[in-house]
Parts: sequence; C-alpha cells; structure tokens
Amino acid sequence: MDLYEYQARDLFEQYGVPVLAGIVADTPEEARAAAEKLGGVVVVKAQVKTGGRGKAGGVKVATTPDDAAAAARSILGLDIKGHIVKRVMVAAGARIAQEFYFSVLLDRANRSYLSLTSVEGGMEIEVLAVERPEALARIEVDPIIGITHDKARDIAVAAKFPSELVDRVADVFVKLYDVYKSEDATLVEVNPLILSEDGDIIALDGKVSLDENAAFRHPNHVQFEDAAAADPLEAKAKALDLNYVKLDGEVGIIGNGAGLVMSTLDVVAYAGERHGGVKPANFLDIGGGASATVMANGLSIVLGDPQVKSVFVNVFGGITACDAVANGIVGALAELGASANKPLVVRLDGNSVAEGRRILREAAHPLVSLADDMDQGADTAARLANAA
Ligand SMILES: Nc1ncnc2c1ncn2[C@@H]1O[C@H](COP(=O)(O)OP(=O)(O)O)[C@@H](O)[C@H]1O
Ligand SMILES: [Mg+2]
Repeated sequence: MDLYEYQARDLFEQYGVPVLAGIVADTPEEARAAAEKLGGVVVVKAQVKTGGRGKAGGVKVATTPDDAAAAARSILGLDIKGHIVKRVMVAAGARIAQEFYFSVLLDRANRSYLSLTSVEGGMEIEVLAVERPEALARIEVDPIIGITHDKARDIAVAAKFPSELVDRVADVFVKLYDVYKSEDATLVEVNPLILSEDGDIIALDGKVSLDENAAFRHPNHVQFEDAAAADPLEAKAKALDLNYVKLDGEVGIIGNGAGLVMSTLDVVAYAGERHGGVKPANFLDIGGGASATVMANGLSIVLGDPQVKSVFVNVFGGITACDAVANGIVGALAELGASANKPLVVRLDGNSVAEGRRILREAAHPLVSLADDMDQGADTAARLANAA
C-alpha cells in the first residue's frame, strides 16, 4: 500500500525525521485558511500517488493566502498521469540550498535491503539512474543489522556528501530506516532531502510503501487505506472477504480455485475474439466452500458491475460437490431476486456433477443455461455478452 505524501510526512514526524509543517485541504478555501495558519510563503502540493507532480503543475509556490487559494483551485481536479487530484497539502515553503536523494527499499532479487543515495536530488530517480549512474550510491543494507549510525555515515560518504554534512544526514538516514523497519515498509524514499539556506536538513517530499502482508502487526495502518480511491466493487468484495479483482471486460467470471479462475479468464478472452472482442470482466475465486451465501455474495458483486453483460460460472466440484454448488446458485438467485438480471452460463464438473446439473435443470431459472464443458461455456457466455 502506497501512502500519500502528507501521510508519509506525518509518519516521518512521529519518528523525528525533520519535516516542514503541512496541512491538507480539499477546497481552495481550506487552502487559504491553511496558508493563513502557516504564515509566510507556502507551497501548495497535489496529493496523488504518483511522482513528477512538480513537472505536471501540481506543486505551486504561494506568497499570500489568496495565492494559495488560487493555486489550490488550479491544482484540484488536475489529471496527473491518470490520477485526479482531490486533495492538496499546503506546506511551509523552504528556501532550498541543495537537493539530495535518499531511499531504502526491499531488494527482492538479492533477498536483502538496498539504500540508494545521491547528492543530486530533485531529479526523478529512474532518470538519474540512467543518465548519471555514477552519482547514485547503491549500498546493500543487511536486514539483521540495519542502518546504524556508522552504516549511515558509510552511505553518506559513498554518496559524496560534503564532510561537514555527513553526520547530520546520517542522523536522518538512521531515522528514516527506523520508519522503514518499524512500520514494515518496502520503500521509504525522500526526494528531495534538502539542505536549506538556514543550514537545516529537511525531508521535503516522502514516498512510503507499506507491506500489506504485515498489516496484522499494524492495526493503525487501516487509517492509511483510501476507501474513496479504491474501486467500489473491490472494496465491497474485500468487505465480504471475496478474492475479487475488477478487470476491463463484459463477461463476469466466477470460479472455485485460483488456477481454474485464471484459466477461465484465458478461455473467455480467447472465445471473446470470435464474439466482438468481449473480455473477462473480473477475477473472482469463491474458494472451496461455495455455500449459497458465498455464491450470492459473489453473484451480487459480479452483477453489480455495470460493464458485465453475461456471467460464466465455472466450478469443478471437489470437497464441495456440484450439488452443493448448484443449490448455492439456486439459493443465490432466489436471494438476489430481480437484481439478478443478466444471463448466467454454468459449467459444472467433478464430484456429484449429475446431481448438480439435475438441480439446475429442475430449478429452470430463465437466466441460467448449462454448458457441457469449459470451452462451450466460455463461448456461450462471450456470445451472450456480445449480443447484449
Ligand atoms: N515545501 C517546499 N518548499 C519549497 N520547495 C518545495 C517544497 N516542496 C517541494 N518543493 C520543490 O518542488 C519540487 C517538486 O516537489 P516534490 O514534492 O518533490 O514533488 P514531485 O516529486 O512529485 O515532483 C521539489 O524538488 C522542490 O524543489
Ligand atoms: Mg519528489
């Protein structure tokens, strides 16, 4: 999970990393009030989870509260690399003498941590790494030992910081590593870390990615979840504990077992080529115990996607036999009533397949048709989606 800059700023502050005051604002009026509160020159910054905001017009200096309101007006609603700005941060303005770069990240390939550091900050790191690789110090960080003060000094020296700054930036590196480790992050990046004209070292922009696998250790991380930005169907599916990923197509998919669902996506995409180029609308694995409730939840999510024109239910009966799945489908359709309004193609195979098919035939729901096998089911579902 990536954090917004203002969230990273707040986290840095908790760990004693030097940052400047910042106040978030959702409207130009709030930005004006924030600028009045901060006083002096401020910088109005788009809060979107992508870099390069400066270049895209998402970072603006304002000398008066009126200026700050005007800057917020021009930044709010801006599209930065596909991210629409809904919120800005009004930050105290820094007088920058020099811009540096520091990051620590999980280095999966080497099963270790890596710090990247440069005295040439401000520029995007991807660009720096290509154009000025010699200006970037790449230092491995042993996860057991971490960044001690000595290690931080080594990093600063390798990155060619002037000797009078080495100890001071090293202090900041140690604190940033503390954020990285204590919060179970996979990335902590500061670009730029600055030396101000007053001689202070300050983290002016922060990017933090948290490891969601460690969420159980950090109940406070839920505060960073961005319910508004998440896909509403994915959010609903998550609340129902369903393994659902929204895709950009017309054929809703429900299956049991991740492998079966993945191959169903392939087969439907392939069938779609014969039927107007329709594609799978989602990944949804309802797992082993496909009870009526789980099936109803799954169907309501898939049918709730306005893009979906038909649904392909592809189930292989194992521990949960096909008759239980068929009863689940019949029960789900009864539960959903009129909200089940798109054709459903059902392919059952495996344990108790004959009984499962009999249940569906006898229920004779007008929207349900049975497929003999996976290819035929995919073809029918794609054809129905294309015809709708
Ligand atoms: N609070 C601030 N005071 C003065 N200048 C700033 C401030 N925040 C950012 N800047 C300037 O704007 C540039 C871009 O801002 P930054 O926060 O790094 O956004 P991004 O990396 O998305 O472009 C920085 O390199 C810095 O020169
Ligand atoms: Mg930056």
